[in-house]
Amino acid sequence: MVDTSDEWIRERTGIVERHILKQDGLGTSEMGADAVRKLLAATGTSVDEIDMLVCATVTPDMLFPATANIICDKVGIKNAWGFDINAGCSGFIYSFTAVDAFIRAGRAKKMILVCGERMSGITDYTDRNTCPLFGDAAVAMLIEPTDNPNEGLIDYEHHVDGIGRHYLYQKAGGSCYPPTAETVARREHFVYQDGKTVFKYAVSNMADVSVGMMEKHDLKPEDIAYLIPHQANLRILAATGHRMGLDDGKILVNIEKYGNTAGTSIPLVMWDFKKRFKKGDNLIISAFGAGFTWGALLYKWGI
Ligand SMILES: CC(C)(COP(=O)(O)OP(=O)(O)OC[C@H]1O[C@@H](n2cnc3c(N)ncnc32)[C@H](O)[C@@H]1OP(=O)(O)O)[C@@H](O)C(=O)NCCC(=O)NCCS
Repeated sequence: MVDTSDEWIRERTGIVERHILKQDGLGTSEMGADAVRKLLAATGTSVDEIDMLVCATVTPDMLFPATANIICDKVGIKNAWGFDINAGCSGFIYSFTAVDAFIRAGRAKKMILVCGERMSGITDYTDRNTCPLFGDAAVAMLIEPTDNPNEGLIDYEHHVDGIGRHYLYQKAGGSCYPPTAETVARREHFVYQDGKTVFKYAVSNMADVSVGMMEKHDLKPEDIAYLIPHQANLRILAATGHRMGLDDGKILVNIEKYGNTAGTSIPLVMWDFKKRFKKGDNLIISAFGAGFTWGALLYKWGI
């Protein structure tokens, strides 16, 4: 147990609970497959109808094959192809933009997007700078075309800055530093984060890109129904919303229930708050993560 307290974690991050997949030998695909089975049942979709399955994750079951392929195998999807997207906590915004492009190009009719992370598998529970933050989760979404060009994904703006590799990374286990007894002894197979630096980049970049999206579309705070921010830290997401001129009631937060689930956090918010959304609502969806990666979507709710 690290030297920390519930009070410190609540105050500095907003996190109250996290969910952890505890069984050995089960990875992100296990949660992803479970979510896909529930999605297929809820939407009355058969596995044969799925053209593509894409998985956004930084905690793949293994470096290869892709977790998307393992999920397809586990749920019996045979006629689809797919791949993983590694964009850190920007996993949802990047992968949603990618699947949207396949749908718009007419190259796919029914796609499944899975955002899933078993962050507990790469979290060092002797490092108090990171272990209170991360939780495990998976969400599956069915993505289909719409006839209405004024709903769904209206616009996006994404960025990368490779300077982020010095501040938030998992050093060992890839081709640069293959795992050895030494890399394991140095705990380099776990997430490393310089929290202060990441915090500064996250606050300014998430706010800039979100405000930029409002300006580009001439949207005032009253035109935005909700901000759906990546759930990194309550202070980061509140700062983003306030820079956009939004009241707290428009800044959707569920970090207290799940912690930081990386690329999965935004669809988890959409799931928890979906009953609040009304047809025509303008949603700004914004994220910042490892890479650095960051960006914002303007999404018009269509149902
Ligand atoms: C990690 C994070 C919560 C730390 O909060 P912070 O307020 O910035 O804390 P600091 O790093 O300034 O540390 C303040 C003090 O708390 C201590 N501290 C750090 N973690 C602690 C913990 N779990 N429990 C108790 N004390 C802790 C530090 O050691 C430091 O003590 P010191 O001043 O004696 O050195 C915060 O920096 C953060 O959220 N960063 C971004 C994280 C993130 O979003 N990552 C994912 C990218 S999407």
